[in-house]
Amino acid sequence: MQRIFRNTSAVFFGMLLVFAAAKAALPEQAPDTMNGYSLSQFGSFEKEWHLVTSRYRKDTGEMRLTWANDIAWKALLEKSTDDPDGAVFAKIGMMTEDDPDFTSSAVPSGVKRYQFMVRDRKKFPDTQGWGYAIFNGSGKNTSKPEDHAIDSRACSACHEMVPQRGYVFSQPMSLALNTAAPILSEATGNITFTTLDAAKLRTDVQKHLPTGTKQVRRVHGPFEKHVFVGTMGEIRPVLIREAIRTRHPALLISDDSPLFSLSYINPDKPACEDHGKKGVSVISLFTTGRPDGQLPPVARNEYCETAQ
Ligand code: HEC
Repeated sequence: MQRIFRNTSAVFFGMLLVFAAAKAALPEQAPDTMNGYSLSQFGSFEKEWHLVTSRYRKDTGEMRLTWANDIAWKALLEKSTDDPDGAVFAKIGMMTEDDPDFTSSAVPSGVKRYQFMVRDRKKFPDTQGWGYAIFNGSGKNTSKPEDHAIDSRACSACHEMVPQRGYVFSQPMSLALNTAAPILSEATGNITFTTLDAAKLRTDVQKHLPTGTKQVRRVHGPFEKHVFVGTMGEIRPVLIREAIRTRHPALLISDDSPLFSLSYINPDKPACEDHGKKGVSVISLFTTGRPDGQLPPVARNEYCETAQ
């Protein structure tokens, strides 16, 4: 009996050694970190930090909430455009679905993604001193570690639309009675559009245009430099506004990547109604995956824009 026990423990210790060796062979950067940050290290930020504001994307039905830690919150209240090191902003994007017992009201139905911006001027000189990190609903960063530098530049490129806010979009919402929430200055200062001949576009983009399109409006801005998958969906409201304003399809396209985002008024049925409000029916097509040598997948959405 004694001997059997000793043998078993030898096997057990042998297995431990095998596990230890396997662990040591893991790559240095675990898949759930980006720029050295993991979701778990921010703890229960949604309970402990300051809720800055909420936003709702009408096109995707996504609810977004933004929090600031103490340092970032102080900077916001002081209207600082240069957050000190240690300032952190967190954003959660949540899916929503109708409450089955009260269908005109949608409720959060799961986390789509977590995003963070951490101020460390020394560590992140290439992205205006902000370290960016993104995780899916399970807390995983799904891109390859070698793509993190590109992804960070893409995050930064869009946040560079608001240098006048220190590269931070969110502003504290007003909860004061009878006081309108502060109206944000439209971050269109460094966005411009040019008119392009449809015939000169790449054929893989051209084929998505409504038949008979002669001209498109191409958007230019800091986000053009380092396009990445997330930019294609985020930019849609800007493109839609331009498509409705000019009646031409509006496009984000880069010269060195197959990613694109295209929005135009539905030629078959331009008028629509949403919850009793008249609107313009819009079609959006945008790439949703990484190119990886092949053409990326394209998503098509149609919805009724009533805000114009
Ligand atoms: C195409 C534009 C765009 C891109 C790309 C982008 N963001 Fe943002 N980000 C926004 C906007 C707009 C907001 C304001 C909240 C909202 O509308 O969802 C925001 C808000 C945030 C916030 C809350 C603080 C703030 O600035 O309001 C964090 C944190 C954040 N983004 C992180 C990231 C990360 C990480 C990435 C890259 C993986 C990224 N963002 C890429 C446009 C962008």
